[in-house]
Amino acid sequence: MDIFRTKSVEQSVRDTEAPEHRLRKRLTAVDLTVFGIGVIVGTGIFVLTGRVAKETAGPAVAFSFIAAGIVCGLAALCYAEFASTIPVAGSAYTFSLATLGEFPAWVIGWDLMLEMALAAAVVAVGWSGYFASLMSSIGLELPAWMAGDEPVINLPAMIVVLILTGILAAGIKLSARVNLVIVAIKVAVILLVIVAGLFFVKAANYSPFIPPPVSTPGVEGLKAPLIQVLFGITPVAFGVIGIFSAAAIVFFAFIGFDVVATAAEETIEPQRDLPRGIIGSLVICTVLYVAVSVVVVGMQRYDQLSEKAPLADAFTAVGQSWAAVLISIGAIAGLTTVVMILMLGQSRVLFAMCRDGLLPRGLAKVHPRFGTPARLTVIIGLVSAALSGFISLGALAELVNIGTLFAFVVVSAGVIILRRTRPDLHRAFRTPFVPVLPILSVLACIYLMLNLPVETWLRFVIWMIIGAALYFVYGYRHSRVEVPSPKG
Ligand code: ALA
Repeated sequence: MDIFRTKSVEQSVRDTEAPEHRLRKRLTAVDLTVFGIGVIVGTGIFVLTGRVAKETAGPAVAFSFIAAGIVCGLAALCYAEFASTIPVAGSAYTFSLATLGEFPAWVIGWDLMLEMALAAAVVAVGWSGYFASLMSSIGLELPAWMAGDEPVINLPAMIVVLILTGILAAGIKLSARVNLVIVAIKVAVILLVIVAGLFFVKAANYSPFIPPPVSTPGVEGLKAPLIQVLFGITPVAFGVIGIFSAAAIVFFAFIGFDVVATAAEETIEPQRDLPRGIIGSLVICTVLYVAVSVVVVGMQRYDQLSEKAPLADAFTAVGQSWAAVLISIGAIAGLTTVVMILMLGQSRVLFAMCRDGLLPRGLAKVHPRFGTPARLTVIIGLVSAALSGFISLGALAELVNIGTLFAFVVVSAGVIILRRTRPDLHRAFRTPFVPVLPILSVLACIYLMLNLPVETWLRFVIWMIIGAALYFVYGYRHSRVEVPSPKG
C-alpha cells in the first residue's frame, strides 16, 4: 500500500490541459493582488483589532500585527516558490502531492477546508453583524431571531453566501470585476480611518504602550493556550507574552494571501505573476494593518474599544458618527469579498482533489459556458451557507487559524524537500536562504499554533482523524495519481 506516492510536477501540469478540466486563463498580477487584498482585509482588522487590544495586547497590538505579518511573510516566500514552480489549481494540496505524497496531500486538502469553507462562514456571520448595525443606524431594526446575538437562523449571512455563490459559478472574470470595485471601497475606508483618525489621536492613550502583564486564572483548562499548559504557566494577558498570544489571533487578519496561489491555473503568466500577487498583497495589507491599529488605539483608550465594530465605534466615541457610517459600509463591502474569494479558493482546492480521484471526479466538471467548476461551487456555497446560518462560530475562528498555520508548515517544509527531490525544475521565483528561511517559517508557525487554546487543538485533531478515515475508505481506492492521464 503506497500512500506516499507522489504525482509528478509534469503530470500535474499536463492534467490542467485536459479539455473537460481546463479552466480559463485570464488573470494578471494586478488582478491577483486585488484578489489578495479582497480576501485578506476583513474580519481581522475590522473586528479582531478591538477585542485583541482590549483583552490581550493593549496599544501594543500593532506589534502583534507585525509579528503575525512576519510569520506570514516567511510562509509567503515559500508559497511564492511553489506557486511559480507548479502553477496548478489546488495550492498547498497540489504542492504536497508533488513533494510529500498522496496521503499527506489529502491531509492538507482536508485541512484547507478548515481554512476556507469554515472561514467563509465565520466571515459571513461577521458580515451579518455589521449589516444589522448599519440597518439599525438608519432606523431599521432587524428581528432578533435572524440578527440578534444568538439568532435562530442567521438569514442575512445565508443570503449573502448564496448570492456570492451565484456570482462565482457564473464566471471568474465577473467575480474579478465585482471584486475590484469592492476592494477600492474597502481600501478607501481603511485609508479614511488612518488619515481622519490621525486628527483625533491623543498621546495619553498610548501610555502604557505595553500594559503590565496580568494573570487571567479564569482562562484555564481547555481555554488556555497550549503553550501555557505544556509549561505549566498561569495564563497571562498583556505584557510581552500578550503580544504573541494576540499575534496568534490577529493571524486571522492575514489569511488569504495563500488563497492567491489557488488561482494559479487561471493566471496568464503564473510563474511571474503569482509571486508578485502573493507578496504584493501581503505587504500592502501589513502596512495598512499596522497603521490602522496604531491610529485606533490612539483615538480611544484600549480598554474602552468596542469588540464588535472597533473602527467605526472609535469614530463615534470622538463624535464623528458620519465616519462611523461610512466605515460600516466599507466593512460590509470588505467582508463580502472575503467570503467570496474564500469560497473561490475552496472550490479550486476541491477541484484539484476531485481531478486526482481522491473525491468523486464527476464533481470537478467545468461548466461548458461559464468555464468554472460550477457544481463544486454550488456545493461549497450550500455548505458554507448552512454553517453560517445555524452555527455560532466565535471560537471556530481559532480553528481556522490552526488549520491555516498547519498548511503553512507543510508548504514551508515542502520547499526544502522539492529542492532536494527535483533540483532540475525551473523555479521562476526562488525562496531566499533555503533551508534556513523555510525552517524559520516552520518554527514560527508552530510557535503561533502553540499559542492557540487546547480546545482548538482537540477539534483540529478530531477533524484530521475524520479526514484520514475518509481517505482510506474512498480516496486511496479511487486515486488516479499513478494512472497517466489521457492526452487531450
Ligand atoms: N483575513 C481574512 C479576514 O480577516 C480572513 O477576514
